[in-house]
Amino acid sequence: SAAEKGGWPSFMDKEIHEDPDAVANTLLGRFDERGDIVLDEVHIDVEDFRSIDKIIVVACGTASYAGMVAKYAIEHWVRIPVEVELAHEFRYRDPILTPRTLVVAISQSGETMDTLMALRHAREQGSRVLAICNTQGSTIPRESDAVLYTHAGPEIAVASTKAFVAQITAAYLLGLYLAQVKGTMFRDEIHQNLDNLKAMPGKIQWVLDTQTDAIEHAAERMLNAHSFLFLGRHVGYPVALEGALKLKEIAYTFTEGFAAGELKHGPIALVDEGEPVVVIVPSARGRDTLHNKVISGIEEVRARGAYTIAVAEEGDPDAERYADIVFWRPACPTLLSPLLDVVPLQLFAMDMANLKGYDVDKPRNLAKSVTVE
Ligand code: AGP
Repeated sequence: SAAEKGGWPSFMDKEIHEDPDAVANTLLGRFDERGDIVLDEVHIDVEDFRSIDKIIVVACGTASYAGMVAKYAIEHWVRIPVEVELAHEFRYRDPILTPRTLVVAISQSGETMDTLMALRHAREQGSRVLAICNTQGSTIPRESDAVLYTHAGPEIAVASTKAFVAQITAAYLLGLYLAQVKGTMFRDEIHQNLDNLKAMPGKIQWVLDTQTDAIEHAAERMLNAHSFLFLGRHVGYPVALEGALKLKEIAYTFTEGFAAGELKHGPIALVDEGEPVVVIVPSARGRDTLHNKVISGIEEVRARGAYTIAVAEEGDPDAERYADIVFWRPACPTLLSPLLDVVPLQLFAMDMANLKGYDVDKPRNLAKSVTVE
């Protein structure tokens, strides 16, 4: 009903605007008076956490992209290998699981059958399973050894938005907690990362407050496009995949997301006059190699006639110069940037679907949670 939407035209619109709260609430109450992370409710003792030598994330769809972000952050902070696997592929390849493997099952609903079957398999093989879940008391957390709840609040729209940023936040918390108990980072460094993380809700709010008009105009401009390419590198890669999935799900537009470095290995053949290409541009600070490589990717597709939309850090002169349209986001550390970069893509997909007259909350052929294998 209109009342449940709190004045928003759709649940999706409401939920995207709850992205900042989803992040803030997921961080709430997870620190002691010294600022260290406490995950008491997780019920895995510190000794067991210390013994973990490998993580395997199992999840589907959007949750799997949160898992990919987790891989970049946890491997960097904790120096243990993190694999990410689509839950429905996992048990069929006889994965290597030991008591020192932590399987992290990420699920908004907690009822996704593919993810549930993967975690059952992991437990049968003697591994511990930690669920990152948004739904209290649902099946996946009930069958896991431990649960780290995301506090995004109920997500009604079929296309996941606020749950995604909450899942990523929970993954950062888990990574920094592991770094804390394993001692792979200095305490100051962990606290610095936590401070950066706590600043993210305000930065997401900035995107929501300042970029919506530009995004809506871009959607109007692109309304008749038949397909979109999304590219990103490093943590921008899962964001590209998520941006592409959102547009498929609700605007029924054919999209392909890929790692920007793959462009020259094939996908560039798709680029033709007017083809829209959305590019997640890494921070320009220091103009690191990653930034420059992504910018040259924009130049390459543009030279072949692409219409380019960049998501870039405020004031990035190269994004301004080379892209046709830029959605801006505030500066932040690279590992945390998915929390900002995904927001304009959520809005963009919603605007496209709205302009086409589709029901953004209930896209055709899709269920909110997929409870069959
Ligand atoms: C996201 O927009 C999708 N509708 C879908 O990919 C979803 O993320 C996936 O089915 C997993 O659902 P879950 O998080 O409830 O397990």
